[in-house]
Amino acid sequence: MTKLASSHLDAIPTLGSGMGYRRELREQIFASRDRIDVLEIVTEQFFGGDQELEELVALWPVIPHGVGLSIGTAGALDWEYLHQVRRVSERTGSPYYSEHLAITRAPGIDIGHLAPLWFTEEALRTTIHNVDAVQSFLGKPLVLENISYLLSVPGATMPQDEFFGRMVEATGCGVLLDVANVHINAQNHSFDPVAFLDAMPLHAVVQIHLAGGYWADDVYIDAHSEPVNGPTWELLSELADRVPIRVSILEQDANFPDQITPILADVDRSRSVIAAAARR
Ligand SMILES: [Fe+2]
Repeated sequence: MTKLASSHLDAIPTLGSGMGYRRELREQIFASRDRIDVLEIVTEQFFGGDQELEELVALWPVIPHGVGLSIGTAGALDWEYLHQVRRVSERTGSPYYSEHLAITRAPGIDIGHLAPLWFTEEALRTTIHNVDAVQSFLGKPLVLENISYLLSVPGATMPQDEFFGRMVEATGCGVLLDVANVHINAQNHSFDPVAFLDAMPLHAVVQIHLAGGYWADDVYIDAHSEPVNGPTWELLSELADRVPIRVSILEQDANFPDQITPILADVDRSRSVIAAAARR
């Protein structure tokens, strides 16, 4: 097993608070460059060429965030895909590569979205094997995100936090803690979000995500379409009290405002919440 030394995570610098790069907001993002410390890109959107990426890298630290790795899928990894990922990852010069603890395909089937893993010993073995292989291939730590899910897969033999903990222990990978996803899952599946945080391997947290969704009847939808809500800010403060947060990214994928002022306000607020916790 090729566990990366934990010092690989320790070497990741603090990059600050920023947002997901979205082409719909390109002009305003460039015009607001002084208020954005760091950008996250969706890796797959940059498979086609490097010019746009070079424009971003010239102005910001850029973290590539993939959606198609399917780290929990048994069977061969998609090496053609991974070669493209590595090219983008190397162009950014990022200190880590981020993805989701999820599957997007099962052998022979493309699911088409991020689906939760079956939290079993077998899935854990598969995931550890894949994380080791991807970290070796990319030459940098993999940092994996907790996803939101409407249905939890029945038949799990361990909770999600234990799966994360054992995966981190075995591989030395990092955690991208999506605070909004913790809030959403806690609402939809009736658990205590702070207790969930305390059960996660917080020492491995490198980055966080923030986003806002909405209620549809009695289900909270992870839409990335609204400002960050109050309980999510409170949860960020709880997390920041427990662990230093090196990178904070605001995700908005729909309902883009004419002016990105509200997005920048949330970026500013995340910086303030993290700084306030660091002073305590
Ligand atoms: Fe996220």
